[in-house]
Amino acid sequence: RLLIVDFGSQVTQLIARRLRELNVYCEIHPYQNVTDAFLAAFAPRAVIFSGGPDSVTRAGSPRPPQSVYALGVPILGICYGQQVMMQDLGGRVEAGEHATAEFGRAYVEQTGKDDDFLFGWFLEGREQVWMSHGDHVAEIAPGFQVLGTSPGAPFAITADPARRFYAVQFHPEVHHTPNGRTLYENFIRLAGFRGDWTMGAYREEAIAKIRTQVGDGKVICGLSGGVDSSVAAVLIHEAIGDQLTCVFVDHGLLRQNEAAEVVAMFRDHYNIPLIHADESDLFLGALDGVSDPEVKRKTIGKLFIDVFQKHAAEVGGAEFLAQGTLYPDVIESVSFSGGPSVTIKSHHNVGGLPEKMGLKLVEPLRELFKDEVRALGHELGLPASFIGRHPFPGPGLAIRCPGEITREKLEILRKADAVYIDQIRRHGLYDEIWQAFVALLPVRTVGVMGDGRTYDYACALRAVTSVDGMTADYYPFSHDFLSETATRIINEVKGINRVTYDITSKPPGTIEWE
Ligand code: XMP
Repeated sequence: RLLIVDFGSQVTQLIARRLRELNVYCEIHPYQNVTDAFLAAFAPRAVIFSGGPDSVTRAGSPRPPQSVYALGVPILGICYGQQVMMQDLGGRVEAGEHATAEFGRAYVEQTGKDDDFLFGWFLEGREQVWMSHGDHVAEIAPGFQVLGTSPGAPFAITADPARRFYAVQFHPEVHHTPNGRTLYENFIRLAGFRGDWTMGAYREEAIAKIRTQVGDGKVICGLSGGVDSSVAAVLIHEAIGDQLTCVFVDHGLLRQNEAAEVVAMFRDHYNIPLIHADESDLFLGALDGVSDPEVKRKTIGKLFIDVFQKHAAEVGGAEFLAQGTLYPDVIESVSFSGGPSVTIKSHHNVGGLPEKMGLKLVEPLRELFKDEVRALGHELGLPASFIGRHPFPGPGLAIRCPGEITREKLEILRKADAVYIDQIRRHGLYDEIWQAFVALLPVRTVGVMGDGRTYDYACALRAVTSVDGMTADYYPFSHDFLSETATRIINEVKGINRVTYDITSKPPGTIEWE
């Protein structure tokens, strides 16, 4: 197995992700925990030093134990990790000045040869990489040679092939180093990994970790019906059986048949103890007359916490709260606090709840990205149609029904949405689309059906492509698809007589209407 020594970079988890993609098992450990004894016990087959925010020129800055260099295994240092290696092994690092700091895209030219490490790189003579460093290496350590340089980083790629020590100034793990994967591939090949680790192995490890953490304690899991909390619930249930109870808060703002499907799957199919808290009267009552989007969100968020707490108390003696927190949620809450993502998460990451209830958190998906959670869900036998579901926001249909919410409007919206999604599935487009839904507009328009006048609601269809929900493009449906869908909605859904298609991208729009 491979050890990643974490010096505090924002993107350390991306290194782990790249390695998992290459079917290599790795663990991230903060540098403080990596002692001589730890290294001896862990016995890594290779080590990676992550980047980090500190400066190696500062006394007391983070370092690995020096015994790491005597293990005889390959080491790869990235950014701060490179500087650590150079400093430790007899080179020199200079503290950053503006003139030498470098952030963003850069191009590395090959200047030396080491076919093992650079194998498959520099196909076009230079590679695009992502730099983000203040300090820089001023002198490389004895035994090292320079394999690549960029205008701002004369020692962009350095290597001591005899000892199999490699160090790069840029971040090969990020998206903006398009061929970064090749460097990782070469590195793990050098270290002799077979690349046969799988999501099945991850499942076993995660289960063992949950058992160790929880012991014979009781766990409560808030189930939303979304992929993340569902995968977390099934995984935890596999680990600790009926020590787990799920609480599914039904706020009356779910899609057609959604509540029944969640209950059928978790209670009946997986036999997971489930409290189905049908609190729709409470939520719809509180939302009565509310039309401001933020007031809607806050009302729902606050009630959700109260209701969840009330039902969780029924379990009695629970010590743990399980959440389907993913790695991007972790980074977002650290690096973008105050940004839009905080508002986006305000419903789901029931902030403050664990402390308020005196519960400890179980977050078995904390290291994973969305597509890895889907792979894990697949591994756990969740149905493909369920795993591939589009995201659905915590406040549910409330934010797809601009203006005041009534039961009548929600019913119309549910029907229209079901027809629209059915159309998308029939045309085989569901998996190409990140998210698709109907918004019911708070306007009524005049129409003519048969010989009669109608005066009904207008709706907007929304469908977007996206990678992470942060930016999005509207989906280019064919005219045939759009007209067939409009016809079906107007014919099949009483209460709608006009259909529009929302062609706004994000930015400037958001995906949801509110
Ligand atoms: P926007 O509308 O901000 O949405 O472009 C981006 C993504 O986030 C989802 N979304 C939410 N998810 N609680 C959630 O769990 C929320 O309050 C919330 N608001 C928006 C939205 O569906 C899209 O996928």
